[in-house]
Amino acid sequence: MPDAKAPIPLTARFAAPHHVAIIMDGNGRWAAARGLPRSEGHRRGVEALRRTVRAAGELGVGILTIFSFSSENWSRPPAEVRDLMGLLRRFIRNDLAELHSNNVRVRVIGEREGLAPDILRLLEEAEELTRRNDGLMLVVAFNYGARQEIARAVRLLAHEVRAGRLDPDAVTADALARFLDAPDLPDPDLIIRTSGEQRLSNFLLWQAAYSELVFVPIHWPDFDRAVLEQAIAEYHRRERRFGGLVAQTGS
Ligand code: FPP
Repeated sequence: MPDAKAPIPLTARFAAPHHVAIIMDGNGRWAAARGLPRSEGHRRGVEALRRTVRAAGELGVGILTIFSFSSENWSRPPAEVRDLMGLLRRFIRNDLAELHSNNVRVRVIGEREGLAPDILRLLEEAEELTRRNDGLMLVVAFNYGARQEIARAVRLLAHEVRAGRLDPDAVTADALARFLDAPDLPDPDLIIRTSGEQRLSNFLLWQAAYSELVFVPIHWPDFDRAVLEQAIAEYHRRERRFGGLVAQTGS
């Protein structure tokens, strides 16, 4: 049993988990606490994202999935939605070349239908330009909701059944998973959520079945390499049994 009272080391002494996913929460509260507009919180959130991509690469993370805009975020005031769309545009325009030169491969998950054509183009351009890179994979969950992703998968699978290409009795969890947005990627080992909220909020519900969840109390704009290392250290304290009896720690 890991000793829960032992201090969390400041540097992760173990190999990084292969797939880390992050719910970047708390931009608005970070800004409110400083008397700043929410837009400033999001802007500083992008800076935290840059730091985190760099740190994840340095620590040897293989895949970093970020929840950058949820299917439900459309219900925010139009000005804030515009702001978030603007930040994504700027992030891709300003950072894509650097991501590419750092051998980062960008993938996008989420519903593409209904996105503004220029946003769609930028996302596709990012995927296309970096397609052959084999460093860190940055998976951007954009216009993403897990229930919507599962519904999309079921719809595709139903078409296969109707076309006679799939026997209804062959519908297993694995068969369904093949129709998810990124079926070739392994499930996240570690999901981190900032700002102290302890829920998944429609993020990777299918893929999170055996993920370790780590909730950190700081708001996203304050996230940095040290916090990532602490979350990884916490991950290594966990025993992963995947429903079996034998512990498979991340170490
Ligand atoms: C949560 O903070 C964050 C988001 C809704 C989106 C995350 C966006 C960024 C980090 C910046 C944009 C980056 C890209 C690439 C688009 P919140 O607004 O829910 O904070 P609150 O819960 O304190 O109000």
